[in-house]
This record gives sequence, structure tokens and C-alpha cells, in this order.
Amino acid sequence: MQDQLEEIRKKAKEEIKNAQDAKQLDEVRVKYLGKKGELTAVLRGMGGLSPEERPVVGSLVNQIRDELEMLIEAGEKHFANLEIEKKLKTENIDITMPSKKVSLGSIHPITQIVNDVKEIFIGMGYEIADGPEVELATYNFDKLNTPPDHPARDMQDTFYITDDIVLRSQTSPVQARVMETTKPPIKIICPGAVYRSDSVDATHSPVFHQIEGLVIDKHISMADLKGTLAMFAKKCLGEKTRIRFRPHHFPFTEPSAEADVSCFVCGGKGCRVCKGEGWIELLGCGMVHPNVLRNCGINPEEYTGFAFGFGVERIAMAKFGIDDMRLLYENDIRFLKQF
Ligand code: DAH
Repeated sequence: MQDQLEEIRKKAKEEIKNAQDAKQLDEVRVKYLGKKGELTAVLRGMGGLSPEERPVVGSLVNQIRDELEMLIEAGEKHFANLEIEKKLKTENIDITMPSKKVSLGSIHPITQIVNDVKEIFIGMGYEIADGPEVELATYNFDKLNTPPDHPARDMQDTFYITDDIVLRSQTSPVQARVMETTKPPIKIICPGAVYRSDSVDATHSPVFHQIEGLVIDKHISMADLKGTLAMFAKKCLGEKTRIRFRPHHFPFTEPSAEADVSCFVCGGKGCRVCKGEGWIELLGCGMVHPNVLRNCGINPEEYTGFAFGFGVERIAMAKFGIDDMRLLYENDIRFLKQF
């Protein structure tokens, strides 16, 4: 029996040595150590041995099995390494090959203007306020002294969700919301999207952006309004920018004005951007109407204030020389990359 075992050991070692690849090696393992393998068969046949022989043969079988397992394991490692080496040789990486370009986005011109304006006003002690885009008609109109028969309330101009709920047509309702909940002094700006029932063309879009400003305190006058906006124009559009005010009408301010800035492209001489005028219309503004203060729970005898509002697209277009508003919404990366 021992001789038979030694014979198996020799044969198996020989076959392990001669195995050409992992598959052949595995076949050897199965042949000798598998469930139906030769060594296993010997173990099974041990029942017929005498009690003296049994431990001797048993330990020999174990010894041979351990040895074969060790050799097979070493062989497996050897073939695995060969496999890796082969891969490394054939699948070499061409490190000179250009990588795929990851194109970086850029900050959208509208966002850039909003960020600039925020920074300027934060520097003057303002806070940023926010309000809903789906707004109660009361805030969009009534509290802002805009009566039910006012043309701005027409279905032609404003998107109605229900009779009482609109998509805000301006950022001015945020004024009313802030005044209702804040005790003066108030100094806020509010950037945001607004909606109007306009068809799309080079200068119109049913969704666009405005920035609203509001200051309420004791003794606020038109001079504060003019000084603030003059300062803002210089910071936003360049130190040489001048500002002028023209009388205008808004329901929520009295007196009301529109402000123009000297063209920041030609400096006022007249060019394509200002259409030869030398001036560019910038914003609407005025002293907050006493009715509005009263509607929002502020005593007009004690407090006064000014407000202003302007379209972000208009400034972005003038500042970046964009002549079609639609470009701002198409998100063509080639366009956006320029700013
Ligand atoms: N809400 C006005 C508009 O959409 C802009 C405006 C004008 C806002 C005068 C104001 C203001 O706060 O005082 O045309």
C-alpha cells in the first residue's frame, strides 16, 4: 500500500510539473485530490487495513495530500502571474494618447449680473430677500396700489392660475411681503424670475428676471434714491457712468421716475448699443406710495422709502453686447463660453 502511495506521489508530482497551464493543473488536482481522485480512493480503502497499518498509511496520505496541495497552489500562482505578465505585454496603455476633453461650464451672463448686483448692494448694507413666483394677486397688485381695473392686471399681460393667484409679473410683491413682516429700517434687494404673457422675440420672453430694491426708514428722501442709484450705476457699469431721471408713472410710487444711464459703450456719444441716443434706459423707481406703506402696515407719517426695479436681461444684453434675448435661454455652450 505504501508503495502504491509513493507511486501516486511520484506520478502526481510529475504531472504537476508538466502542466502547461492553469487548466491542466486543475485536471491534475481533480485526478488525485478530487472526490473521485486516486488519493481519495486510497483513503476510502483504508477500512480494509489492519489497526497497525491504518495510522501509518493515514499519515502518509495526509502528508502526500499536503505536499500536492502546496505544489498545486504554487503552480496556480505561477500561472496567474504569467497571465498578468501576458496582459501587461499585450494590453499596453498608450500614455501619449490625448485624453477626452471635459468641457467646463461657465457662469451664465444672467447669473453674473445678479451676482454683481447683489455684491454691490450687500456692500451698501442691503439684505437679499426672496418671495414666491406663484403669487397672490393681492401682493402682485392690490397691496401695490394697483386697482382691479389697472391695465397690467389684464389677462393679456399676466398669467393667471386662478382669479386670485398669478405668476408674479414683477418682483415688486416681495416689497409688500417684506414690509408686512419687517419693522423698518428695511434695506433689501430681491432678484428673481417674473412672468408675462409675451411672445418670444429678440427683446421679449414670457419668463425673465428682475431685481427689486426697497429702502424704508425715517427721513428717506428722493435724494437718497438718486444717490443710491448713481452709486449703483457707477459700480455696476463703470466709474464714468452718469445717471439721469425722467418723470414716469408707477402705481406703487409717488413721485415715480425712470432712470437712464449714459451709454457705457460709447460714453454718451451715440452708438449701436444705445441706438444713437447716448443713454440707455435702466430702471423704474420712485418714493414708495403712502397707500402701499399703509397697505403693508407701515405708518406713512412716520416712515418713507424708495423702491426701484429693473430687468436683468436688459442689463446683461447691454453690458455683454447681446442683441437677441433668446440667446440667453438657448444654453448653447458656444455662446455661453464667451462670458
Ligand atoms: N415693477 C416695475 C416693472 O416691472 C419696476 C419698478 C418700478 C419697480 C418702480 C419698483 C419701482 O420698485 O419703484 O416694470
